[in-house]
Amino acid sequence: MSEIKNEVATLDLMDSKHEFPIMEGSVGPSVVNISKLYAATGQFTYDPGFTSTASCESTITYIDGDEGILLYRGYPIGQLAEKSSFLETAFLLLEGELPSNSEYKEFSNAITQHTMVHEQLRNFFAGFRRDAHPMAILCGVVGALSAFYHDSTDINDPYQRMVASRRLIAKMPTLAAMAYKYSVGQPFVYPNNELSYPENFLNMCFAVPAKKLIISPTLIKAMDRIFILHADHEQNASTSTVRLASSSGANPFACIAAGIACLWGPAHGGANEAALKMLAEIGSVDKIPEYIKKAKDKNDPFRLMGFGHRVYKNYDPRARVMQETCHEVLTELGIKDDPLLDVAMELERIALSDDYFIEKKLYPNIDFYSGITLKAMGFPTSMFTVLFALARTVGWVAQWNEMIEDPSQKIGRPRQLYTGYTERDYKPADHR
Ligand code: SDX
Repeated sequence: MSEIKNEVATLDLMDSKHEFPIMEGSVGPSVVNISKLYAATGQFTYDPGFTSTASCESTITYIDGDEGILLYRGYPIGQLAEKSSFLETAFLLLEGELPSNSEYKEFSNAITQHTMVHEQLRNFFAGFRRDAHPMAILCGVVGALSAFYHDSTDINDPYQRMVASRRLIAKMPTLAAMAYKYSVGQPFVYPNNELSYPENFLNMCFAVPAKKLIISPTLIKAMDRIFILHADHEQNASTSTVRLASSSGANPFACIAAGIACLWGPAHGGANEAALKMLAEIGSVDKIPEYIKKAKDKNDPFRLMGFGHRVYKNYDPRARVMQETCHEVLTELGIKDDPLLDVAMELERIALSDDYFIEKKLYPNIDFYSGITLKAMGFPTSMFTVLFALARTVGWVAQWNEMIEDPSQKIGRPRQLYTGYTERDYKPADHR
């Protein structure tokens, strides 16, 4: 819990002085509580992009952008990626503590029992063109879940919230795999309760009725680790979207669908797809200087996808693990010299020694190496953000529950600095 320090921030306006309490968390920047600013001064703050704004109090994920630190409920991402599993990390994010053996058994069994989707949902896919982007399909189908699960949409009932949370975590792999299968014209593969969460997902994506699929343990572990890396990330754009949608009392399925839509943007979760397309466009190491020049040109909208971050002004700790996983996967698959990896490694080396990137503290983020890894595992670029959404559903759901349980939270309703016309009278058409 935060605590009010016995310090205040003083605001000197033209004709008055106002004091606002300072709240301190367990680690990281303290905050000036300006919730009474408008009532006291008749003025708003102005912070486009919310670069200096804390929207909530949270105990779930902590990021120190300057030090490149990421903690899920206090545990460093590197330790979880190495020692935990995605489902165990999901329990941690949802409940706040690592599970005991019996807690994990109950949780994983519950998730396993919810992996199937209503058979009628299959009809939703038939309404899409085969070349529909899987993220478009996922947005639509996840939103439609609220039409099937009325018994878990009362957000004020903790039991129904728990059921909805588990349903979403359990069904996202099934829906993501169905979106992929639909796009490649192969039959859907049902979940198999004998398989682990990551293996079940890979099986639903790549198995075909004609042949039993054997998946290497290295790829299963890599998939699970990739899910852990993407599970949560504080108040990023899509999580903030889920929180804002939830603040109106909307049902959890609609809110997660809103989060998926936001994640799709290339500046956010869509960057993994964009980063791989960028590496392919660069094509070879000798063309890197030309693209570095474009990225530095203020008049050129081109940016190095997979580089830079609103919070990390140091190496994204997830990118390091992602790079290691990339090498493991390529080695396991016998891919000796992937030209895209060569371009990525050289691009990183050049960028990290270039004054522009050093001065602006632009480092590779999680999306820089994920695309190469996922492509090697057999996923088309259009599925990269779907996998991000699959994993981030755990974080969205954990943050959604935290927001609903937070007594200080109310409907999110920002204000504005109005710079449009002041009042004026209507003019008939022949007087305009
Ligand atoms: C994710 O928020 C999260 O936590 C997100 C995420 C999560 O897990 O939820 O971590 C996932 O979204 C990772 C980010 C993926 N996006 C990309 O890789 C797209 C490329 N990156 C940029 O679009 C950008 O870095 C952002 C959007 C990520 C961050 O943008 P900011 O914080 O608004 O910073 P900015 O755009 O103001 O950039 C600061 C400066 C600018 O130059 P100046 O105007 O100061 O001269 O750095 C430049 C930018 O032009 N810059 C880049 C750049 N990113 C920023 N220049 C070249 N290439 C880049 N990639």
